[in-house]
Amino acid sequence: MTNKQKEKLVKSQQGELNAVLIYQRLAKLTKDEKDKEIFLEIASDEGKHAAILKSYTNTVLKPKETKAKLVGFLYKLLGHNFVIGLLEKGELASIDNYNPLKNDFPKIQQIIDDELRHAKMAKSLLK
Ligand SMILES: [Fe+2]
Ligand SMILES: [Fe+2]
Repeated sequence: MTNKQKEKLVKSQQGELNAVLIYQRLAKLTKDEKDKEIFLEIASDEGKHAAILKSYTNTVLKPKETKAKLVGFLYKLLGHNFVIGLLEKGELASIDNYNPLKNDFPKIQQIIDDELRHAKMAKSLLK
């Protein structure tokens, strides 16, 4: 593994951990039971992604709450559809981030498949 790859994997691992908190926070904020279920399912997947990346990085990281707080704030201020749009974009952007890594780190293909599913799940939540 090159230094650049390690750096990218660690950054992605941090992003996945932060995403767990983002989706958990949204699950708390929504009043819709179906939305809540989906947010919690995605949160659980993001946790699995962090674990996959940790298997490559051997680095222990802590989730950071900053982004979850920001997204929660935007959810209250700008509403459900606005945040869902952001999440869908974020999920798709993460696929672009992972694509160059999948040949050297084959378990990343599973993450890519999940992120595509998450983007579709997010889109299905638009009201
Ligand atoms: Fe993820
Ligand atoms: Fe995701």
